[in-house]
Amino acid sequence: MGQLEAKVIAVTGAGGGMGKKVVENLLAEGATVVALDINTESLSSIENENIRVKAINLLDENSIQQTFKEIFNEYNKLDGLVNIAGIAQSAKPITEVELSEWHKIMDINATAIFLTSREAVRYMKEAKNGSIINIGSVSVTRPRPGLQSYVASKGAVEAFSKALALEAAPFNIRVNVVHPGPADTQMLGQFSSQQAGEVELNKDIFAESVPLGRLINPADISATVTHLLTDGAQIITGAVIHVDGGRSI
Ligand SMILES: NC(=O)c1ccc[n+]([C@@H]2O[C@H](COP(=O)([O-])OP(=O)(O)OC[C@H]3O[C@@H](n4cnc5c(N)ncnc54)[C@H](O)[C@@H]3O)[C@@H](O)[C@H]2O)c1
Repeated sequence: MGQLEAKVIAVTGAGGGMGKKVVENLLAEGATVVALDINTESLSSIENENIRVKAINLLDENSIQQTFKEIFNEYNKLDGLVNIAGIAQSAKPITEVELSEWHKIMDINATAIFLTSREAVRYMKEAKNGSIINIGSVSVTRPRPGLQSYVASKGAVEAFSKALALEAAPFNIRVNVVHPGPADTQMLGQFSSQQAGEVELNKDIFAESVPLGRLINPADISATVTHLLTDGAQIITGAVIHVDGGRSI
């Protein structure tokens, strides 16, 4: 029997490198997964009767409200929310960053987490049960030059998560942050200012920045996310967990 049998869990960014692996892990542990992403193409290869895939733009407040209403109407509960969706920033000096770019990064990386968490908490409060996991970034602890907007958005994720953890604790809702180190997904190359072709080289540079000597895999992230959703983690809240091979040291 899986560790997440009978649990209903919503995952944003489900179609991405980390998201898809998290979805697969949760399904393998017996959960019912509502997989949310603006681009759901990669999820079509998952064959499992317990997955519901929904295309959604997390910048759209109404769609988010409607989606969580539908989830609750169908399952009458929501045990977990994993906020994975995010976008990178192409590294550049602050003097070259348009205000619109700052807003876009803040909206997807931080505001969307506020919106999905607000709807999830509405339902979790009644059940006096819930686990929310927000994906941040090791760059909050160890910033890189030129990523000021991205780092600020992920700093907001950490601060928001701690504040919500305290606020929601009386309702037995747990809120935790996972900060991945440089991870082997298509996003990694997007942090570079360089053009395509240098991605492989950058992969080596990123891997060398990790004391354990390799990039983080989606499987590393999904293992920690899965644990935080299980009853084994029922006393863990407000935690900031680095899954980064020591990069934050
Ligand atoms: N890859 C890394 O090196 C790294 C390191 C630290 C943190 N992170 C964080 O991990 C998370 C997952 O990253 P990943 O590497 O899997 O990247 P990814 O690009 O593969 O996945 C991100 C997903 O978010 C979705 N998304 C973006 N904007 C959206 C929107 N408006 N509405 C709905 N969905 C939207 C994308 O479609 C994509 O599927 C992100 O929050 C990222 O910031 C990544």
